[in-house]
Amino acid sequence: MKITFQTKAGNHIVDCAEGENVLFAGLRGGVAVPYECATGTCGTCRCRVMDGPVELQWNDAPGLTYVKREKNETLMCQAVPTGDCVVRVPGDIVKTENGPASQSGRMENFERLTHDVVRFSVVLERPMSFMAGQFAVLTLPGIEGGRAYSMTNHATSVDRLDFVVKRKTGGGFCNWLFDGSPEGAELQVFGPLGRATFDPAEGKNVLCIAGGSGIAGMMAILEHGTASGYFGTHRADVFFGVRTGDDVFFGDALNRYVEASPKQVNVTIALSDEAPGAELAKRFPSVKFAQGFVHEVAAAQMKDRYDNICGYVAGPPPMVDGALRMLVLEARLPGTDIRYDKFG
Ligand code: FES
Repeated sequence: MKITFQTKAGNHIVDCAEGENVLFAGLRGGVAVPYECATGTCGTCRCRVMDGPVELQWNDAPGLTYVKREKNETLMCQAVPTGDCVVRVPGDIVKTENGPASQSGRMENFERLTHDVVRFSVVLERPMSFMAGQFAVLTLPGIEGGRAYSMTNHATSVDRLDFVVKRKTGGGFCNWLFDGSPEGAELQVFGPLGRATFDPAEGKNVLCIAGGSGIAGMMAILEHGTASGYFGTHRADVFFGVRTGDDVFFGDALNRYVEASPKQVNVTIALSDEAPGAELAKRFPSVKFAQGFVHEVAAAQMKDRYDNICGYVAGPPPMVDGALRMLVLEARLPGTDIRYDKFG
């Protein structure tokens, strides 16, 4: 099947595989169409179907509240063509090289980190290159829709993607992950995706504010910055929020990153529901602990330290909103230096 993307910069025609959605076909074909979550929640991938049969994958996708269905608008990430079609996308959309791609993967190294957080790897059939901070969409046969998760590892080219997932109530994928037998399962991987990326060439100090599994992409940033020696000359201030001491995960890895660059990397874990006990400081001696909401702890510690900063934010929506407000109003960072992906 063919999809024609009508844009202000001209028409782009790409091949679409059976069952593939318009967004993935476009990105895979090098058309730089707009998107954020890639899973039906944000509404950014709005388009208008001008011609041809297109089926909606998820009728109740929250992102559909942003489209005018009476004008034949839909979400590219939820629209699956069943024949040749033409879609109109707002803006000057150009063709690029090296778009994301789809491939099979196998789940391995499944491990429970806390009562509601697991980590696992997906072993790829062919290597993938991605920037620290990017994500991939995982699709399991038999479970409707894809789930977007940031990679926690980073290297120039990897044949294994590492993920961390916090359980959400009522999620089919989460139920399978926590209650099923995920080890060895085959799944589809589409990526890399996302623009909340870390690029050492920008020469910025890094500020990360994360809640729960939002720490995932920031682990990749810390990995990249540490392995490349970036933190020999640039600062990283990392604030990681969880509820209680029992909810802390990746403590060992965060402790290691601080010890690798003790003058430049600072990590503070903020507990929202209790005061940190002495046991935590003993287990992770190079990490600082504080009580409070993570964005408030970050605001207090970062006062007057926003020089040459790029801010990364990920986590539950109220935390993300609070952190973004702080980066705009207090840190006065321009939009280009505030990075987050709207998924979840
Ligand atoms: Fe499609 Fe977010 S709704 S990219």
